[in-house]
Amino acid sequence: MIDVTAPTRFLSVLDFGPAELSACLSLAAELKAARAARRAHERPLTGQHVALLFEKPSLRTRSTFQIAVRELGGDVIEPPQDVVLGGRESIADVARNLERWVSIAVVRTFAQARLEEFASAAPRLRVVNALTDEEHPCQALADALTLIERFGELSDRTIAFVGDGNNVARSLAQAVIMLGGHVRIASPAGYELPPAAVAEIRNCAANGGTIEVTDDAAAAAGGADAVYTDVWTSMGQEAETATRIQLFAPYQVNSTLMSLAAPGALFMHCLPAHRGDEVTDEVIDSPASVVFDQAENRLHAQKALLAMLG
Ligand code: CP
Repeated sequence: MIDVTAPTRFLSVLDFGPAELSACLSLAAELKAARAARRAHERPLTGQHVALLFEKPSLRTRSTFQIAVRELGGDVIEPPQDVVLGGRESIADVARNLERWVSIAVVRTFAQARLEEFASAAPRLRVVNALTDEEHPCQALADALTLIERFGELSDRTIAFVGDGNNVARSLAQAVIMLGGHVRIASPAGYELPPAAVAEIRNCAANGGTIEVTDDAAAAAGGADAVYTDVWTSMGQEAETATRIQLFAPYQVNSTLMSLAAPGALFMHCLPAHRGDEVTDEVIDSPASVVFDQAENRLHAQKALLAMLG
């Protein structure tokens, strides 16, 4: 069943091409069905160890990687945060040590450059981005799986991201456009995705996928098949919270904004949510909301990813 291969690292959705992305999502759907039916599947990580290195808090990513590794037959090690990437020894030396013991490292850190440095130092180690300041590709796999479950093909679908032009927006846009979907991102001035990131997203478009960037939340949500948002203040930006709450208020996803979307449009959020800020209770608790499908799909998508890398 597990006969697809991937590059040796997944630091970004862009480490996949459209074929690898589709193969990963198909495998994720297969693994999800097998788990639901309590059907045995191959355990490609048998005899392998996977290191989880997290420099920031996590519920979903950490839990789903722990379960994913165990269900694929592997074992997890979780070195404490204060001894990895924390100044006790260089990032490169941490990677070179781990390369001798484990086959895969799943890393949540700050700048993408830290992750690149880690991966470059240990070419035999398979490295997975569990979130950096710039990208969140594992979230994007789960989001794409959720969208495909609801819509099938994405080629005639428009996904609006309303809020901060952050790591989640970037990885989501990369995945959706690679699957031929249409992305609109609405952010206040000064909080847009950087132009270089937008150009990079445009470059990975396949099958007619497009991206539009605006500062108009209503224009982005108008007629969209899904409206996605994320917290206005990401981890590490806490000092900016008060300013951001004021600036982002017109970007709240509420019933008025959702009423502009296509009939039956989905509401999406990577979680954790700050209810009352970027989304109202009414929207996140509505039948349109697929946020817990997204959270569940973290597990299935990451199992597929690990199976491809392992
Ligand atoms: N969405 C997400 O990455 O959740 P955690 O921060 O809890 O891992």
